[in-house]
Amino acid sequence: MRSVGIVGTGSYLPDKVLSNADLAKFVDTNDEWIASRTGIRQRHIAEKDMPTSELCYQAGLRALEDAQIVPEEIDLIIVATMTPDYAFPATACLVADRLGAKNAAAFDLEAACSGFIFALATASQFVATGMYKTVLVIGGEVLSKILNWEDRSTCILFGDGAGAAVLQAVKEGFGFLSFELGADGSGGKLLSQPAGGSKCPASLETVGKNLHTLQMEGREVYKFAVRIMGDVSVKVLEKAGIKKEDVDLFLPHQANTRIIDAAVKRLGISPDKVVVNLDKYGNMSAASIPVALDEAVKARRITEGDTIVMVGFGAGLTWGACVLKWTKVGLKV
Ligand code: COA
Repeated sequence: MRSVGIVGTGSYLPDKVLSNADLAKFVDTNDEWIASRTGIRQRHIAEKDMPTSELCYQAGLRALEDAQIVPEEIDLIIVATMTPDYAFPATACLVADRLGAKNAAAFDLEAACSGFIFALATASQFVATGMYKTVLVIGGEVLSKILNWEDRSTCILFGDGAGAAVLQAVKEGFGFLSFELGADGSGGKLLSQPAGGSKCPASLETVGKNLHTLQMEGREVYKFAVRIMGDVSVKVLEKAGIKKEDVDLFLPHQANTRIIDAAVKRLGISPDKVVVNLDKYGNMSAASIPVALDEAVKARRITEGDTIVMVGFGAGLTWGACVLKWTKVGLKV
């Protein structure tokens, strides 16, 4: 098996910014409540005519530039999203077409906010076995289009964006050291978009009842998130044989600062080793981790040889984490 790493990253946020004060103009909330309960100050919102594939395309393009590869070199594109352009065709196919990735297979993967980690785990298998040399993994969401903008308990939390990573073989001892993935469907109802699928197809009634929007039992999800983020981080470090003291950067899913703080406290990691950007973007589901990763790389918070832990959780319920020893030097094998 080959060692597999990330040899390029990119991200894209739509221009339009919606602050907490802007939100307070049309929903009963305020900056103080949102900031103190979640840490979020603002989020980016896609224009009406901007679908997920557009954000993913922009992020993918930047990741390819960063990795210095051309679209024809990509063997596979995986888009992690729960807000695809359509139920079908897959958003990844649309992105492949926009990029001109003529030699790539393409499919979507849905594991909600854990999606990017699941997609990294999936993509890395193709490279590890030698089936593919280059895989583009993108996490992208336009959550603003599935939110109920009259529900203050959910609409304040989310934002739009996309982040991407190019995976290739890297030198031995570098790249992904371990993955840990999990799911518990018994908690599926805690966070869902009830209508629009085969269980509850679109009808005038489902639209009237707002069933095409994101529904969440916030407190239950919060309890799950705090527990799972600590548990999965401990497990993935054990699997990799890495001590928590040797972690250079902890890159958690960006849902709520209180959830991140609880996990960091449990792990005993120093707060200056933790990436937090949810104040600027809110929770972007599958896009949160890759956007944070790209920003950390570009800000030189991650350099050759660093040990990084990425951990996500979300609807499903799902959770996933990985340990990565950083190098951007791809082996052209
Ligand atoms: N502005 C002002 N008040 C609000 C509000 C808002 N946006 N949303 C809820 N409230 C009110 C509630 O109505 C409630 O009022 P009441 O006590 O008079 O009934 C009060 O604030 C407390 O609500 P509660 O839901 O208990 O708040 P909380 O401390 O649990 O925080 C969340 C709510 C959503 C921030 C928190 O539960 C959370 O972060 N959950 C996890 C969500 C998540 O991360 N989901 C994605 C997973 S990938």
